Amino acid sequence: MPGFGLRPLTPNDRDLVRQKTIASWGSAIVVARGEVLRPAELPGFLAESEGEPIGLLTYVVRAQSCEIVTLDSWREGSGIGSALVQAAKQAAIQAGCRRLWLVTTNNNTSALHFYQKRGFVLCALRVEAIAASRRLKPEIPLTDAEGIPIRDEIELEMLL
Ligand SMILES: CC(C)(COP(=O)(O)OP(=O)(O)OC[C@H]1O[C@@H](n2cnc3c(N)ncnc32)[C@H](O)[C@@H]1OP(=O)(O)O)[C@@H](O)C(=O)NCCC(=O)NCCS
Repeated sequence: MPGFGLRPLTPNDRDLVRQKTIASWGSAIVVARGEVLRPAELPGFLAESEGEPIGLLTYVVRAQSCEIVTLDSWREGSGIGSALVQAAKQAAIQAGCRRLWLVTTNNNTSALHFYQKRGFVLCALRVEAIAASRRLKPEIPLTDAEGIPIRDEIELEMLL
């Protein structure tokens, strides 16, 4: 595969981020810890190869904490996800954050694999939290593509 570059998102990327969020996550919003977030309005990084978007990370900084809100790679296994997380970590450090964290769901075993191999540790389990998320975002399916019920939130963190 040709190399890829990363760049910070700009306001001109909002439509792209919105479309990609809908394509990957079923709607323009994401819900975690009972909170609705709109990735198209957040800072982040885009991975591109020959002008094509191949990966996207959005984040939000609050109270010396940086939450990774979405992370998607459209050419998996080529280092794009790792590079995006590294960029978010640097942005978090520059913003004075003490913690980089994210929420995933019980079914997303590949994300658990990915984040734990990159230094994140599990720090919270919210059993059945997705029922409340589903009230805010009915597009969240009951089961994933492999038939695993989407049920619980798992929070992972990296102290900076
Ligand atoms: C998790 C994700 C961002 C990783 O992106 P990536 O570009 O493949 O990441 P990298 O190439 O840097 O690293 C690949 C690693 O992820 C693992 N991985 C997870 N899912 C994978 C998949 N479907 N294909 C290839 N590798 C995958 C690989 O095993 C590899 O781990 P390793 O450290 O053992 O080599 C990507 O699989 C993805 O977009 N998943 C769907 C969206 C998602 O779940 N996002 C996270 C939600 S919190």
